[in-house]
Amino acid sequence: MSSLNNLSSWKDLNNHSKKILEQSLNDMFKKDKNRFNKFSIQIKDLLLDYSKNHIDDKTMKLFSQLLDDINLKEKINDLFNGEKINTSENRSVLHFLLRGSFNSKTKDIYEKKVKKGLEKLKSFSTKFQNGETKGFSGKKIKNIINIGIGGSDLGPKMVCEALKYYSNRDINNYFISNVDPSNLSEVLLNVNAEESIFIVSSKSFGTIETLKNASFCKKWFYNKSKNNDHVNKHFYAVTANTERAKEFGIKEKNIFPIWDWVGGRYSLWSSVGLPIILKIGFDNFEMLLKGANEIDNHFKEEPFESNIPVVLACLGVLYNNFHNCETYAIFPYDDYLKYFPKYLQQADMESNGKNISKDSSEIKYNTGPIIWGDVGTNGQHSFFQLIHQGTKNIPCDFIGFVNSNNEKEELHEILLSNLVGQTMALMKGKNILEVEKELGDENNYHNYNIIKSSKIFKGNKPSNTFLFNKLTPYNLGRLIAIYEHKIFVQGCIWNINSFDQWGVELGKILSDEVYDKLCKNDRSQIDNSSRGQLDFIEKFRQ
Ligand code: F6P
Repeated sequence: MSSLNNLSSWKDLNNHSKKILEQSLNDMFKKDKNRFNKFSIQIKDLLLDYSKNHIDDKTMKLFSQLLDDINLKEKINDLFNGEKINTSENRSVLHFLLRGSFNSKTKDIYEKKVKKGLEKLKSFSTKFQNGETKGFSGKKIKNIINIGIGGSDLGPKMVCEALKYYSNRDINNYFISNVDPSNLSEVLLNVNAEESIFIVSSKSFGTIETLKNASFCKKWFYNKSKNNDHVNKHFYAVTANTERAKEFGIKEKNIFPIWDWVGGRYSLWSSVGLPIILKIGFDNFEMLLKGANEIDNHFKEEPFESNIPVVLACLGVLYNNFHNCETYAIFPYDDYLKYFPKYLQQADMESNGKNISKDSSEIKYNTGPIIWGDVGTNGQHSFFQLIHQGTKNIPCDFIGFVNSNNEKEELHEILLSNLVGQTMALMKGKNILEVEKELGDENNYHNYNIIKSSKIFKGNKPSNTFLFNKLTPYNLGRLIAIYEHKIFVQGCIWNINSFDQWGVELGKILSDEVYDKLCKNDRSQIDNSSRGQLDFIEKFRQ
């Protein structure tokens, strides 16, 4: 593929995206009464309003040309046909099979692997729900402790929180991810061995943080139960590396499979979702899969101009590449989604934080943005100041639900009004005339000019708004799958491999080396700064 920078659609988009800034968003709405209809997409009870963006018909036309130039259709087909698009690891990318999105080329894998995996999960979950899964002392299990990091932590943790409303409140989920002893200690303080199971979740079963934490927990469990059979009964594994899990001491019947074609950050749909299943039940988990399946079909079949992940990806590229926005913010207006921005950080930044193209050349344009965010309205009372009046331009996605799972008087209406109000304020701003009118007689103020200029909002700031009917398992599945496919499309546009993560390797290797040096009090071949830090650690370490 010729470099993006040489494509005429890319150059035209660059020029047009600058030109369009001559018009404000407010003016565009005034000129075109049909703008909302034109730039919004509805799938039943799901709405994406992207009309508050610096776009016009020409922008979308140029994007459509760009998508043709990069052969997006073909790339989507390659994904769903199981081609080995993760070239650096020579792997297919098939996480969507886990939600039943197979075709004639992938049906066999679905039938032989996914279905069997799901059956094992279902039968375990049924027994668990019926209270048949008992601890060594005969008591029912009520604590599920997941030991895993990255994709083996963030997805299940996010979904367990997001779907708490649908969950069995007698079941407590705990997550040990960090190799920080404080993480583990705080969890173990809360649980007793006889009512707890440990799920060691690691696709590779080679991640040092997970293995160290799991070893510690095993020892802790043995000290409590004084019996290896009890340990065996309470430890489970989710992995693509059964042999290593067995070597670690997990019994084969307690091992749930995943496969090399499920990337860690795309794995919550697999056995990695076991903590989710135990918390919300298998039926709800199936609804999560079904919601994602609906989006898979939409992504495969819908023309690009009304294809939510595709449109979202183009808008992201617009700001990332032509408006030079470094970051992209995600604001769910639902407390249950408090881990969603964090989850998306891995999904997006580990996927698209790349500087080498698929054909091994160095990339000369911006790739993945910095993803961040928090729940509304909390963010409004902290960092929104910078979004409204700072010097940076930050595109944002607002995510809301028309109905709350917990309607309480008028609280939810206020929450929703805040969501809409914020996107309005970002776009509309407040000009000097409005401020002067609001302030009235300047003689009433001793610092009139300071107040006046502080109250001006430039506005013209873009945002997308998602509205779903309610935060249900089905809708959460849709939401996550939308972002997964958006990330894929952006990877296609930037011509990068969104499915490897070599950037995490160097730090792992150097940490091992540092650990070795720390243990041996060795300071050879080390830079001065790191040596100073190690000396300091050595001096004060008790
Ligand atoms: O180091 C990064 C990473 O490989 C992530 O991609 C992955 O989600 C995480 O570590 C955990 O990996 P595993 O599930 O193999 O322990």
